[in-house]
Amino acid sequence: MEQTLSIIKPDAVKKGVIGKIIDRFESNGLRIAAMKKVQLSETQAGDFYGVHRERPFFKDLVEFMTSGPVVIMVLEGEGAVLKNRDLMGATNPKEAAAGTIRADFAESIDANAVHGSDSLENAGIEIKFFFDKSEVL
Ligand code: CMP
Repeated sequence: MEQTLSIIKPDAVKKGVIGKIIDRFESNGLRIAAMKKVQLSETQAGDFYGVHRERPFFKDLVEFMTSGPVVIMVLEGEGAVLKNRDLMGATNPKEAAAGTIRADFAESIDANAVHGSDSLENAGIEIKFFFDKSEVL
C-alpha cells in the first residue's frame, strides 16, 4: 500500500471540477486518506516547489499556485504514486493522453489542474509538508 500527495490546483478549483477529479481517483482504487482546501501563501508555495527555485518558470508557478484556493489530498492505494501519475497524464496538457485528468480539465503547462508526487520518496516528503500524521486516516 502506497500513499502519494495530490493537489487540485487553482484553475480546477475555479472551474468547479473538484468532485469530477476526486471521482477519477476513487473510481480507480485510490482512497482519500486526508483532504483539505487551503489558500497557499507565497512562502508555502515557494518552499513546496523549492526544487524548481532556479527554473525559469518558478516565479509564474508560485504566482499561479497562490492565485486561489487549492485542494490537497493524500491518496492511498496499491502503486498509488504511479497510478496517480497515470490518471493525471503528462505535465503539459497538450501532450496528455486522452481520458487523463490533464487532457480533460487542464489548459496549459502552468494551469495544469493537478499536481502529483513523482516518486515514493518525494510523496513522503510532500505529505509531511502539508499534513500532520494525525490528519492522515
Ligand atoms: P507540477 O507537477 O505541479 O510540478 C511543477 C510545475 O511547474 C508543473 O506541474 C507545471 O505546472 C509547472 N511548469 C511550468 N513550466 C514547466 C516546465 N517547463 N517544465 C515542468 N513544469 C513546468
